[in-house]
Amino acid sequence: MKVAIIGTGYVGLVTGTVFSECGHEVTCIDNNEDKIKVLQSGKMPIFEPGLDEMVARNVEAGRLKFVTDLAQPVEESPVVFIAVGTPPTPSGKADLSYIEQVARQIARHVNEYKVIVEKSTVPVQTGEKVKMTIEKTVGDGMAFDVVSNPEFLREGSALEDALNPDRIVIGTTSERARGVMKELYGNFKCPIIMTDIKSAEIIKHAANSFLAMKISYINAVANVCERAGANVMEVAEGMGLDRRIGKNFLYAGIGYGGSCFPKDVDAFERISTELGYEFNLLREVQSINKQQRKIFLRKVEQELWIVKGKTIGVLGLAFKPNTDDMREAPAVEMIQELQAQGARIKAYDPEAMSNAREMLNDVEYCTDAYEVARDADCLLLMTEWDEFKNMDMERIRDAMAHPTLMDARNVFDPQEMIRLGMEYRSIGR
Ligand SMILES: NC(=O)c1ccc[n+]([C@@H]2O[C@H](COP(=O)([O-])OP(=O)(O)OC[C@H]3O[C@@H](n4cnc5c(N)ncnc54)[C@H](O)[C@@H]3O)[C@@H](O)[C@H]2O)c1
Repeated sequence: MKVAIIGTGYVGLVTGTVFSECGHEVTCIDNNEDKIKVLQSGKMPIFEPGLDEMVARNVEAGRLKFVTDLAQPVEESPVVFIAVGTPPTPSGKADLSYIEQVARQIARHVNEYKVIVEKSTVPVQTGEKVKMTIEKTVGDGMAFDVVSNPEFLREGSALEDALNPDRIVIGTTSERARGVMKELYGNFKCPIIMTDIKSAEIIKHAANSFLAMKISYINAVANVCERAGANVMEVAEGMGLDRRIGKNFLYAGIGYGGSCFPKDVDAFERISTELGYEFNLLREVQSINKQQRKIFLRKVEQELWIVKGKTIGVLGLAFKPNTDDMREAPAVEMIQELQAQGARIKAYDPEAMSNAREMLNDVEYCTDAYEVARDADCLLLMTEWDEFKNMDMERIRDAMAHPTLMDARNVFDPQEMIRLGMEYRSIGR
């Protein structure tokens, strides 16, 4: 089946590549000319494990291409995906202007029946507005359906998640559109949830907000553990073995970041308020998350006493491992706060340093963790890349001016760190 995907970011590029891997003929479109040029030259604009090989294979097979103009792919494809960004506005509401712009552009090229799929994460009732927007432009009698098909992939394991999702959610009551979507996802073995468009939109916001809530919950528990002299990792294990709770997302740390959880929790809370329900639980989820960063900063300040003039090494910049994405990464806020107090910052991340350069000033970027450690007064472990888990800690200790490790991700064993003679602080233990 011919598929057009508008918006070739993390979601659009991965979704399009996976559809092409399934045998569909995919055109990925983006209005960012530089991004399309990079893709056309065989390079990847983002880091995602395994993506370059899968893109190359499908481009070679003639099933995947990248263009800037949506006219022809929209006219030729029975299915058109909208996968543009829905970033937060200053008030926390989702900015839907990119969605609206694309809906208007698509409408001009509806030349036969089309299924127009909302892949981007949007507040409930957006589908209705997309439909209304397209209806205003399309010619008389030109049939189309709008479907919500939210995406659940995680950056860092996006290909695996998109190839083997836990479930596929298809929101539409149109039998015709359901048929097209079933054919598109014909190769997938997971459960397919057929629902209406509004329920599908809410599934995405509710699922992300629930996961964020689990993280904030265990972080709040960690703060109690720390004060009581308990160990949050053991508490989480004891909780997580209860199948009603489950062990995933019960890792205490510096809190969630990234381009999804913070904005999706805010957007879900905002749309709930607009609909007349005060979802205070979600406000608290966000508030705990923000507080968690401050608590960690305070620990660093206590450890150093005077921050001014100290050399602080930062291990990990991306918001999580296996990605180069720096959006809402806790490392950004931490570095800026410490710089404001007069610290000198050295940093290393296996993939995110070029994105970090665009967001942070006056950081000395290093080639590995050992260079970061050299002459540092304190090291902050901000992202739990495997590379850091496997460091030679004696070498790190010996390189530092003062062997102090602040572990924002509970990667290391406190007893082992004490044995090595490190000053070691982590979260909730
Ligand atoms: N990143 C994730 O892990 C993830 C996971 C699930 C859902 N989502 C959702 O998917 C959506 C996209 O997220 P993303 O991370 O891929 O964003 P992104 O910023 O990486 O990509 C969006 C792309 O859309 C392009 N774009 C914007 N306006 C356009 C237009 N008029 N025409 C063509 N292209 C246009 C941009 O240039 C950009 O390349 C968001 O709603 C997000 O919440 C993201």
